[in-house]
Amino acid sequence: MSSKTLIAPSVLASDFSKLGDEVEAIDRAGADWIHLDVMDGHFVPNITFGPPVIKAIRGRTKKPFDCHLMIEPADPYLQAFAEAGCDNITVHAEAGPHLDRSLHAIQSLGKTAGVAINPSTPESAIEYVLDRLSLVLIMTVNPGFGGQSFIPAVVDKVRRVKALIGKRPIRIEIDGGVSPETAPLVVAAGADVLVAGAAVFKGDGVEAYRVNIEAIRSAADSARR
Ligand code: DX5
Ligand code: ZN
Repeated sequence: MSSKTLIAPSVLASDFSKLGDEVEAIDRAGADWIHLDVMDGHFVPNITFGPPVIKAIRGRTKKPFDCHLMIEPADPYLQAFAEAGCDNITVHAEAGPHLDRSLHAIQSLGKTAGVAINPSTPESAIEYVLDRLSLVLIMTVNPGFGGQSFIPAVVDKVRRVKALIGKRPIRIEIDGGVSPETAPLVVAAGADVLVAGAAVFKGDGVEAYRVNIEAIRSAADSARR
């Protein structure tokens, strides 16, 4: 959709003992969005953080907060995430029976809405909610943990989602195992936002993160159609 690939570092791979500093560091290192992985120990087998932590780091950057909710149910908590300062709120298609209602609720809170789909979920899950979406998040690992291996079979789904979207202004975001090696595969298939955790938070501090972000961005841009 956009003319350049956006990079959204996931703070899941950061040093949580200094989370605010890490957010500031990836901002200065060139992150476009800040990706926030919220896990509930129920929808996914891991627990991370919620609205109070997001609120606490909101003041450390002006970059958009891209909130990936891996929680079931999501609806009772949408308002809290909106009030904590999330700009985009993404819910999983698999995490509730009323996806259209969840997306409508996010829009009513004045936020942009996204849908995430797991590696085994077909693209048809988003077909009838496209007009509510700003973003489709395609998981290229099974959600729950950072540092997992990219699942190549999902690349074909990226192409199919791109075709479903057509000319609508909807971004395709890829999440899981993104690196300079895998980024070109998904960008060539139509992705324009790349989440990266382990590949960004290698080394220590702004200069290391800048090199890591630029390596992903240039690999991605070289594959743009
Ligand atoms: C996984 C999360 C991802 C994760 C990506 O459930 O949604 O955002 O942090 O981490 P890497 O880039 O290390 O695979
Ligand atoms: Zn994520």
